[in-house]
Amino acid sequence: MFDQLNALPSDPLLGLITLFREDNNPHKVDLGVGVYKDETGHTAIMTAIQKAAKIHLESEDSKTYLAPVGVAGFVDGIKKLVLGDGSKALSDGRVAGLQTPGGCGALRIGAELLGRIKEDLTVWVSNPTWANHIPLINSTGLKIKTYPYFNPETASVDFEAMDAQLAELGPRDVVLLHGCCHNPTGADLTFEQWQRVTDRAVKQGFLPFVDIAYQGLGDGLEEDVKGVRHLSENVEEMLIATSCSKNFGLYRERTGTLLVQNKTATQASAIQTHVQDAARANYSMPPAYGGFLVDRVLSDSQLKAEWQAELAAMATRVKSLRNGLVEHIQKQGIEEDFSFITRQKGMFSFLGINKDQVLELRNKYGIYMADSSRINVAGLNTHCLEYVASSLKAVL
Ligand code: LMR
Repeated sequence: MFDQLNALPSDPLLGLITLFREDNNPHKVDLGVGVYKDETGHTAIMTAIQKAAKIHLESEDSKTYLAPVGVAGFVDGIKKLVLGDGSKALSDGRVAGLQTPGGCGALRIGAELLGRIKEDLTVWVSNPTWANHIPLINSTGLKIKTYPYFNPETASVDFEAMDAQLAELGPRDVVLLHGCCHNPTGADLTFEQWQRVTDRAVKQGFLPFVDIAYQGLGDGLEEDVKGVRHLSENVEEMLIATSCSKNFGLYRERTGTLLVQNKTATQASAIQTHVQDAARANYSMPPAYGGFLVDRVLSDSQLKAEWQAELAAMATRVKSLRNGLVEHIQKQGIEEDFSFITRQKGMFSFLGINKDQVLELRNKYGIYMADSSRINVAGLNTHCLEYVASSLKAVL
């Protein structure tokens, strides 16, 4: 039976991890998968998380099952982190939610919830979007279409084209938005553009589905969710998928949440049963560990302050790497203008080079990035900037 199935090509992003590991080039640089690395190229465990893990190890006295929601305190903590202490939707009890195995689990359960709605829904994703959005949503049989988003000429959001598409949508449409630090382009909506998207959602009646995986890695923990909070305050219903992979550095612990904002608290209770039921049919309940750690960090003012400071330092360092890369590119005398890298947010930028050039950088210089020319800026360090810039010059 199994001989009917042929091997698949490796995942466009995760496949780069193996390729990079197997490369013997001593100068190799990993700008592939979105993982934060320090000056030595190491992805350290955040200090507050280390402390929380110690406390947790000493205090956990059972491994019995949790409730289907996961670690309830964690889910409440993330609701507040994203929507804010003053959120009306939260105080009204209108936000259902559960812990999920990473942001992927949240997107998948969100898509399954949409699949239970007895209407023919279309999910609109930005062009381009994160490579795994489409498989995660597709697997539940929903229709997927793209809306215009990135203009390669200006290396920024083509908002008028996006808005023109949103103006055509209606109540059977779901619009997937990146909460901040757009993956893969690094080109974010301004707050004014979030306001216009919100007005469109209210007027046209489409459902916003926000994926926010990089809160705190753009302009700051509060600034990065200004747009999402504005949406939440003005639309009745929305979905939010969150991830603790990057901002808590919990990549392998698969820690995220799906939040579902409803019209009423009664409706939220009904939706809570659906998302839990969808989780039960997939993996029963999420792994607890990451949720316990984040819950501890968020509920202890000292640990929370330590985490916030470390996260802010990471974001500042990524910004300085953006500036450093552009300076080195300019020093190389490269004619093309790459200054857009300094204007983009979060961990990613599109270099805008073609696939042959991407492959030449990979095969000849050991510099790994996604085929689309997306680089993980957080994979750079001050020692490799010159090498990356001179290699880029060589392939241009
Ligand atoms: C990425 O975009 O590189 C990360 O979100 C990792 C992943 O799972 O693709």
